[in-house]
Amino acid sequence: MTRVLVLNGPNLGRLGSREPEVYGAATHADLVTACRAAGEELGLDVDVRQTDDEAELVGWLHEAADAGTPVVLNPAAFTHYSYALRDACAALTAPLVEVHLTNPAAREAFRHTSVSAGVATGTVTGFGLTSYRLALQAIAELALTQETVHADDSR
Ligand code: DQA
Repeated sequence: MTRVLVLNGPNLGRLGSREPEVYGAATHADLVTACRAAGEELGLDVDVRQTDDEAELVGWLHEAADAGTPVVLNPAAFTHYSYALRDACAALTAPLVEVHLTNPAAREAFRHTSVSAGVATGTVTGFGLTSYRLALQAIAELALTQETVHADDSR
């Protein structure tokens, strides 16, 4: 079973009470439940984590790089300025999908830049918790493709 790390950056632990008019009523616990449910359907072993700490997030990306684990990442505000996070993303060895609950392109100008999107395999933005489900679906399909390629290799 393909293992996937779902990593959430600063303030996402406060979903539900944080600007509900922007981010909705779902809590981080709801996000974890939704990701685990999607993982079960898609045959993925999903490990969801959240931190407000840049160093901890970078450490988790190093762990994923070393283990060849695919990552779904919502870098939250780090998206817009953390070159440390971008460099850690660039060193990943399996697919990376950047996700956002909101559509940053439709918000304040400072959110229009993602320093990490350029090193992601792809991005999903603007669909609330569904952004995570779509990202996990992309990872599952990429993993299937990889398996097919490797099966062909051994013929
Ligand atoms: C966010 C968008 C970011 O601009 C913001 O800083 C967040 C959440 C999102 O999921 O929509 O914290 O990443």
